[in-house]
Amino acid sequence: MTKLIIANWKSNKTLAEVQPWVTDFKKELDLQLASVESALAAQAEVQVIISPGLLMLETLSRQLEGQRFPVDVALGIQDVSPFGAGAYTGAVSVQNLAGLAVEYTLVGHSERRRYFHETHQEVAQKVDQALQVGITPVVCVDEAYIDEQAAAISRDQLERCVVAYEPLAAIGTGQNADVGTVKGIVEHVKRVFGDVPVIYGGSVTEQNVLEYLLVAQGVLAGSASLDPAHFARLVAATVRPA
Ligand code: PGA
Repeated sequence: MTKLIIANWKSNKTLAEVQPWVTDFKKELDLQLASVESALAAQAEVQVIISPGLLMLETLSRQLEGQRFPVDVALGIQDVSPFGAGAYTGAVSVQNLAGLAVEYTLVGHSERRRYFHETHQEVAQKVDQALQVGITPVVCVDEAYIDEQAAAISRDQLERCVVAYEPLAAIGTGQNADVGTVKGIVEHVKRVFGDVPVIYGGSVTEQNVLEYLLVAQGVLAGSASLDPAHFARLVAATVRPA
């Protein structure tokens, strides 16, 4: 099972910071994995997904192209419009993303729910939009609304999602969740969504990432993805358990 390691830059960084981030990320990752016997084996094992702000998407896409990373690196985004192309001022539709090689989108991140008042129904519409163009939705949930969120998504679409369990108390606080609790939630998500990949997010670091990979299929890292060398070490830890 491929492990998914997702970077969420949130509203951080500028265009000028993208190229140095990619260069430093690759340099540290190459260094960390230099002793891994088979780079090909590592590639099959881990998929890294970098989700920048929309303005940086094209630049990041160009920077990633033509680089030979020791693991698979794909492009993600942090949100999509619940509507398709049309008269929806300010919204970025999935059709707008054509040609950008976006493979994943976060939907329903708790910051979107909290600051932009997104509802379960809107999140479900975003799932539908993403799937229409072959982008995999990563549905972010806290335990309080897993069932309600799943109920809003059509049955045939549930099993095409990735689910990120992100307890509110753990996001950006340094208070990462107890691994035993995460294990229980992962099992619950699988009962509700089906046998989908479930990942964990909330104060993940290079030090604690391996614990979560014992119970989840990957992680979503916010703060720990901003520094390229730190993020590279986090990724390397998942390839080459210490
Ligand atoms: P954090 O953010 O790693 O900074 O806690 C995770 C997230 O919100 O996706």
